[in-house]
Amino acid sequence: MVQPFTPVEDERSPDALGVGVHPASEENQFLRHLIRGMRCGVLTVDRTGRLLMLNTLAVQILELDEVPPPGTLIEEAIADHPQLAQILREAFTMTSLPNRAEIDLRCRSDAGKTIGLTLSLVAEEGGEPYAAAAFFKDLTPVEHREEQERLRDRLAALGQMAANMAHEIRNPLASIGVTCALLKRRLSQSAEDVELLEKIAGEIHRLNATITESLEFVRPLSLSMGSASIDELVSDALSTARKRHASDRIEVEHRSEESLPRVVADPTRLRQVFENLCVNAFEAMEAEGGRLEVECSVVPAPGAASIPYQPQGSSGETQRHFDRYIQVKIHDSGPGIPAEHRDRLFYPFFTTKKHGSGVGLALSKKIVDSHHGLLDVESEPGEGALFTVRIPMVVDSEVEGT
Ligand SMILES: Nc1ncnc2c1ncn2[C@@H]1O[C@H](COP(=O)(O)OP(=O)(O)OP(=O)(O)O)[C@@H](O)[C@H]1O
Ligand SMILES: [Mg+2]
Repeated sequence: MVQPFTPVEDERSPDALGVGVHPASEENQFLRHLIRGMRCGVLTVDRTGRLLMLNTLAVQILELDEVPPPGTLIEEAIADHPQLAQILREAFTMTSLPNRAEIDLRCRSDAGKTIGLTLSLVAEEGGEPYAAAAFFKDLTPVEHREEQERLRDRLAALGQMAANMAHEIRNPLASIGVTCALLKRRLSQSAEDVELLEKIAGEIHRLNATITESLEFVRPLSLSMGSASIDELVSDALSTARKRHASDRIEVEHRSEESLPRVVADPTRLRQVFENLCVNAFEAMEAEGGRLEVECSVVPAPGAASIPYQPQGSSGETQRHFDRYIQVKIHDSGPGIPAEHRDRLFYPFFTTKKHGSGVGLALSKKIVDSHHGLLDVESEPGEGALFTVRIPMVVDSEVEGT
């Protein structure tokens, strides 16, 4: 367990600040409490690059295993974050200090995180600065939300374009269809000609179906909200996927937290999401076999935000502030997703499969978005793909008992 330290409480601590602050003074104690309670990470170094103090949040954001003792060189104290150490070192010679600068940190727990950083120098009035202080916040949840919004905007623009094209294509297509039917009547004596015309009619039908499908992405989804057991939906989806891709070389493990609550959601649509993801996982492992792990649990909302939420189509009584999600992780051991495909994955009609339509993930994303949920993917090539669905845990008393 990591314990943060404050050097003024530490016997080993030199009076490194050199400003004559008495450790026991009330002012000192007040400042200590202030820094400890700050809602951002705080990290300070002296002019020689030695650590003066850091608060609990700094330890958490930087994911330090141990709290480095005061006096440690900053490069050793935060060895995993050389860029931040360098910025602190150079603070004393900078002409303008970073204010709300964004820095990407590499962390062990995930692919990395972005912090928003402000730097200040500490000096006696009119004196030389004797310390540099970094104040930082983890911006990863914010970045994540912004990325989701950007993707939503892009999909909306794409959808609008599809709607315009559909309109332009459908009219001439309809007149080709009518002409085709007329010709078929006139040429009914010749079986060969009729066959050719039927081929044309078949292609017209196919084009129309494609256009209808693309319009699915333009129209807002209308959800039919009810009581949903996410775990049951996942089980159903898994067994359908397994039937579609029967293979004894694919091992499936389905784990669930006990007593997951039922939530207010559209069960049919959500089942479709889980089925799309499970089918994709089976397809990814079709050639080589592998292992599919599916896990359902309750997790806090990213950034533990409490967001007022009223599910679409629900009565006012179901309105709840939620700060938790039901999370479903679908992890396959297939070949994974190349980095260059990652951005286009959720675009309609993006597919790398010979017979794929590229609709599954785009539609799944739209369904999850409509539930105010999150759909994410992580994948290192060669290490499979992990799709995570998070659905707000909106539980209302009516539904709870069902
Ligand atoms: N688990 C996975 N592992 C590797 N690649 C995946 C995985 N899931 C999706 N993909 C990639 O994302 C692409 C888009 O998936 P999506 O489900 O939208 O369409 P599709 O599976 O190709 O066709 P369909 O519309 O029939 O589902 C896939 O073609 C594949 O390249
Ligand atoms: Mg698919």
